[in-house]
Amino acid sequence: MANIVPSTIARGLSSGVANRILAKKYVLTKHFEGEPKKSDFIVVEEELPQLKDGEILTEAEYLSVDPYMRAYMIRFKMPADMIGGQVAKVIESRSAKVPVGSYVTGSFGWRTHSIVNYDNPSADQQLPVHVLPDFGPYPVSLALGLLGMPGNTAYFGLKELCQPKAGETLVVTGAAGAVGSHVGQIGKILGCRVIGFAGSDEKCQYLKKELGFDYAFNYKTANIRSALKEAAPNRVDCYFDNVGGEISSIIMSHMNKYGRVAVCGSISSYNDTTLPKVSIVQPSIVFNELKLEGFIVSRWANRWQEGIMANLKWLKEGKLKYQEKVYHGFDNMVDALVGMLRGENTGKAVVKVK
Ligand SMILES: NC(=O)c1ccc[n+]([C@@H]2O[C@H](COP(=O)([O-])OP(=O)(O)OC[C@H]3O[C@@H](n4cnc5c(N)ncnc54)[C@H](OP(=O)(O)O)[C@@H]3O)[C@@H](O)[C@H]2O)c1
Repeated sequence: MANIVPSTIARGLSSGVANRILAKKYVLTKHFEGEPKKSDFIVVEEELPQLKDGEILTEAEYLSVDPYMRAYMIRFKMPADMIGGQVAKVIESRSAKVPVGSYVTGSFGWRTHSIVNYDNPSADQQLPVHVLPDFGPYPVSLALGLLGMPGNTAYFGLKELCQPKAGETLVVTGAAGAVGSHVGQIGKILGCRVIGFAGSDEKCQYLKKELGFDYAFNYKTANIRSALKEAAPNRVDCYFDNVGGEISSIIMSHMNKYGRVAVCGSISSYNDTTLPKVSIVQPSIVFNELKLEGFIVSRWANRWQEGIMANLKWLKEGKLKYQEKVYHGFDNMVDALVGMLRGENTGKAVVKVK
């Protein structure tokens, strides 16, 4: 694990403060080069102050590891606290809106304890802090996956940008991951023919047998053009692009007139030190009059609960299934991040803190 160093703002052990809470947090000290490494981080302890009115004190139960962490940290000046979503239990509250014992989700970063002003959230929260609705029999960790940011990415990104219609053909890459597995299932709910590309034969079996994808191909071994000819004889209407790179150029060259592409991410290059060169896409876009739109899911922050409740309803109706890859221990955050980037996960990768 990374070195533990005392934070400059930590109070000394002799401060004598009652209910002293020591939070641990990951600080990135140098920009990633290639795969993230444990030596890129230090773990810092900081003592948290007493709560003020409107604030809550939370203890993390599940921390998320997501591809955007690899891609976004490049924008931060070093050193920087590591970003990320978490599901946390409220252990102290001075907000009338949040009882002790409830669960909240928010972008608190890779840290064990947080103080959050629930009544007046700060602008640096990428997504609003939410008290979790009753998930019934489902684990609260789903607030980081199917019932959280990735679930809303699939829900809004697919429905709003691809606007799939029954009978159309939808292709999704990164198909066995948190967003991709969800996109494909919504595609089936909406009556589409769904084709997924994922990184192993086992993942492809899961997509077809468990999730009802019509076709799934291992992009590491399949000929992508032949796969598309076989699975999409009427060509592709909607493409949900999670990976970028050459496979996306090939898929776009196999689309129908007025096809729609939701550009969600480009994980195929996140760990690359130089950007890849891929086949030109403009002729496909021009001649088939394609519509491509990139998006960040926070665009729908004002409709957040709509996505969560729609996905929860489908989950309860048995129309959405999920898997989680659970890593264990706050000390293993970097292993979890690297594992997810390498494709160890089917479904959502999360870390159970204790
Ligand atoms: N725009 C937004 O607001 C937004 C929000 C959330 C996520 N995203 C994007 O959506 C994509 C999926 O995110 P997620 O959270 O659902 O992650 P995820 O798919 O659960 O996990 C990442 C997966 O990427 C795949 N992968 C790794 N290297 C790859 C490569 N070279 N080529 C193709 N696939 C590769 C691996 O699966 P395999 O075994 O299949 O390789 C791995 O399991 C990412 O690009 C992410 O940045 C965007």
